[in-house]
Amino acid sequence: MTFHPEMDYQAGLHVSRRELRKDDGPFAFTAENRERLERIAAHYPPEHRRSAVIPALYLVQEQQGYVSAGAIRHVADAIGCTPAEVDDVVTYYAMFFREPVGKYVIQVCRTLSCALRGAERVTAELSRQLGVTVGGTDPTGTFTLMEMECLGACDRAPVVMVNNEHWQECQSPDDVTRLLDGLRTMGTAALTGCHLNVEKSRD
Ligand code: FES
Repeated sequence: MTFHPEMDYQAGLHVSRRELRKDDGPFAFTAENRERLERIAAHYPPEHRRSAVIPALYLVQEQQGYVSAGAIRHVADAIGCTPAEVDDVVTYYAMFFREPVGKYVIQVCRTLSCALRGAERVTAELSRQLGVTVGGTDPTGTFTLMEMECLGACDRAPVVMVNNEHWQECQSPDDVTRLLDGLRTMGTAALTGCHLNVEKSRD
């Protein structure tokens, strides 16, 4: 008995070969990042080199701020898998951005505890003050607004995370002005996470 009439279950793991999104230019790791990738990949047996996909994508994002189609091809080549398999990982994990984002990615939790405590009103106020809808970046390229699933601090809802580590808990719409002003005032000093190196290098 087989589960699918056309799938060759004897051929080993299914390998995705679907088409990728449109090309947006070439990408290559810097010599330093290529070295870092090789050090990471050395932790795995050669036949499992593809297990380095997530750290490789973090390196991409640190280098250019998001994961382009060109970067997906480069990573696939570097770790020995198909671009579609790398794209599957990029698509699955919320911490990887498929398009350029602002210096600060403001992520509002929308899961139950935060929703019950007014996260939607916080998002609406952020949206109003920044002049963007969820998923958008303000015209200055400073802020991107996103909604996220549970950020793991439900007892302090509603929770907002800026980039990867900058937490704001028990937020209300009245806190939004202070949050945005604080980030603007602190500039690159407020940066955490993947954008740290990208933005610091632009100073
Ligand atoms: S529901 Fe928002 S942090 Fe868990």
